[in-house]
Amino acid sequence: MYNTNIMCGIIGYCGRETAAPVVFEGLRRVEYRGYDSAGIATFNNGTLLLCKDVGKLGEIESRHHLSKMLGNTAIGHTRWATHGGVTQANAHPHCDCTSTIAVVHNGIIDNYQELRKQLSTNGHRFTSETDTEVIPHLIEEEMKNKRSLEEAVLAIAPKLKGSYAFLAMSSRDTDKIVGTRKDSPLAIGLGNGAFFAASDVLACSGIANKLIPLADTEIAVLARDSAEFYDAAGRKLTKKPTNLKTQWLDTDKQSYDYFMLKEIMEQPEALEAAVRQDKKAFTEIAMDILRAGQVIVTACGTSRYAALVGRYLFSKVGRKFCDVVMASEFHYFADSVDRNTVVLAVSQSGETADVIEGVKRARDNKAMIVSIVNRPQSQLANMSDHVIYLNCGPEQCVAATKSFLSQLAVFYLLSFSMVNSFDKAVKDIKGMKSKVAKTIEWNNERLKRLSERLKYKHDFYYIARGINFAIASEGALKLKEVSYIHAEGMPAGELKHGTLALIEQGTPVAVICPNDYTYDETMSNAMEAKSRGAYIIALSDRKNQIFDFWVKIPKVSELLYPMITVIPLQLLAYHTAVSLGKDPDKPRNLAKSVTVK
Ligand code: AGP
Repeated sequence: MYNTNIMCGIIGYCGRETAAPVVFEGLRRVEYRGYDSAGIATFNNGTLLLCKDVGKLGEIESRHHLSKMLGNTAIGHTRWATHGGVTQANAHPHCDCTSTIAVVHNGIIDNYQELRKQLSTNGHRFTSETDTEVIPHLIEEEMKNKRSLEEAVLAIAPKLKGSYAFLAMSSRDTDKIVGTRKDSPLAIGLGNGAFFAASDVLACSGIANKLIPLADTEIAVLARDSAEFYDAAGRKLTKKPTNLKTQWLDTDKQSYDYFMLKEIMEQPEALEAAVRQDKKAFTEIAMDILRAGQVIVTACGTSRYAALVGRYLFSKVGRKFCDVVMASEFHYFADSVDRNTVVLAVSQSGETADVIEGVKRARDNKAMIVSIVNRPQSQLANMSDHVIYLNCGPEQCVAATKSFLSQLAVFYLLSFSMVNSFDKAVKDIKGMKSKVAKTIEWNNERLKRLSERLKYKHDFYYIARGINFAIASEGALKLKEVSYIHAEGMPAGELKHGTLALIEQGTPVAVICPNDYTYDETMSNAMEAKSRGAYIIALSDRKNQIFDFWVKIPKVSELLYPMITVIPLQLLAYHTAVSLGKDPDKPRNLAKSVTVK
């Protein structure tokens, strides 16, 4: 038996319209959370209709016409499996023995084997290998005792160990959806005469204009004309909806072939949005960081590379050293976190399980938590003392691009706020808008042609020094995740300590060498690679005869180069993926929000 529904997208709709097209559209928007299989359940004239299959949503739609299912209440699921079969039986929704209760779930039920054993002993028949399937069977048991769906959900939730957000429907009340969560996201959306529940606000964008966050263990009961909320003890709660920002309503690719390119192109505007911050609050956070006994930044993947640039800025501008700890390793260091520690957690989604886990431990040890997030109403934001939003709107490509640039801008603002220069930092970043646009304009077509030439290479190396070192790592990560070509990024000085052995005739080496204090030394390292046959792709504002391919970038001040040098590397990764026929928005084996540890 396997856990097969670790990171997924769920959505439910109750309203006057036919539900399936709305749910299908919501699933399409959150498909980046998983795309192994998908399914929808609706009630039509009291009968449960269920359709699910393996494959991407579009493929399932063309085979089964999911969006044409009838009924005004529906739940849907799009799945990302870590291990175990990607099969139709394992796809969601899952039902009870009588096929009158349907459930979609995101998370892991840790004690599912034990529960399944007990339920099987009581005569329940299981049709999938998933942990999720215990939920409809547990609800069935409770509803046999004349409990309503919400009473049944309240009764079974304490029996579930692990993390979950799930939605349930029952033929006993076909206009109702009951949802609850623990350590997995679930937001409630309100639209015109309709209610939604979804693991991601993006699923509701365009259809909901208000949001209600659901706290851990709370229960939402959505009906056609009402939404009610209860705590775990069944006490009714009053909740205040908040407006959904209009930028979160834009979820279209517009004229672009892929979200990745659209999001790369949106970066000049993203910079402008990132500096729309409250100066007073920013300065206070910066002072807390300066006063702290120790500062630890924790993040994963691309967000961690932004943190590494931030570490450099904190040291250079604020003269404050901080450590950057990979979030999946952070809790092993929890013993040295105390009330004099500021933990800065960086996460586009605000839902990354490794980050959440570390922050929980740091909170238990009384550290101050400051988070830098993009997605509204995230778990991370909810558990932080201070939240800084990136404001760059929805990022739908699994590969992060514009959120990275926004994170760089926020770190720049924070570091200059440490020396009371918030306004100067805002001005500097605004000035970068045109430089980023220029970098794209100068290089997009040329990098497309370069990617055609290099797309069959097996290995790429990326080197840089100082503040740009993390950009080398970020460039390599981008190429790996969207084109599946092996790539490594490292400080230029490290190359000769081992990796140089891998350089052969024609091996592409991207050298990030702006004309600053690192130029001469980086050039020496590039020369060492070139002497062994490397093909030098150089990102610089100063030409050198050793370059085989020059990616010209505008001159900017030393601390702002990362905001420029990352752009051509994103474009190179994008064009390589597309010229290899890969879908850069949905790379194999990956998902946008990694809600599993
Ligand atoms: C970025 O391109 C990757 N998809 C991935 O490394 C990502 O940055 C990481 O999973 C962290 O996500 P978060 O920022 O939402 O926490």
